[in-house]
Amino acid sequence: MKAPIIASLIVTGLASSVSAQAASIYAGESRAAAVCSQCHGIRGTSADAPFPQLAGRDAVYLESALKKYRDKTRKSDIMNNIAGSLSDQDIANVAAYYARIKP
Ligand code: HEC
Repeated sequence: MKAPIIASLIVTGLASSVSAQAASIYAGESRAAAVCSQCHGIRGTSADAPFPQLAGRDAVYLESALKKYRDKTRKSDIMNNIAGSLSDQDIANVAAYYARIKP
């Protein structure tokens, strides 16, 4: 009787570790709604200075920009602070989310 439960735990564990590596646009969207939207807009289309548009930008570019803000090789008082609290996974998620939006 215990075997099916253990098997399903293993399967669940595998599924969650796989999804932890792939970027999740859904997690990215909720992070964007909670944090980034205040300045960049929930659709990432704020082109009002000084907030650059994020919608439709290349995910690789967005990820690298966020990592540079996080390690402070790119300076911005605002973005250094915000990116400082993002994990690699958070960065991949928000980059995937904004990259996917048609501006
Ligand atoms: C309080 C306002 C504010 C918030 C909140 C904010 N940003 Fe920014 N963001 C800025 C400003 C201002 C800049 C321009 C900084 C500079 O001069 O490099 C910027 C720049 C960026 C850039 C670089 C764009 C480019 O063209 O190179 C990215 C990427 C970015 N933000 C992503 C995010 C993400 C993702 C979040 C949410 C986790 C976020 N930002 C939250 C204000 C904000």
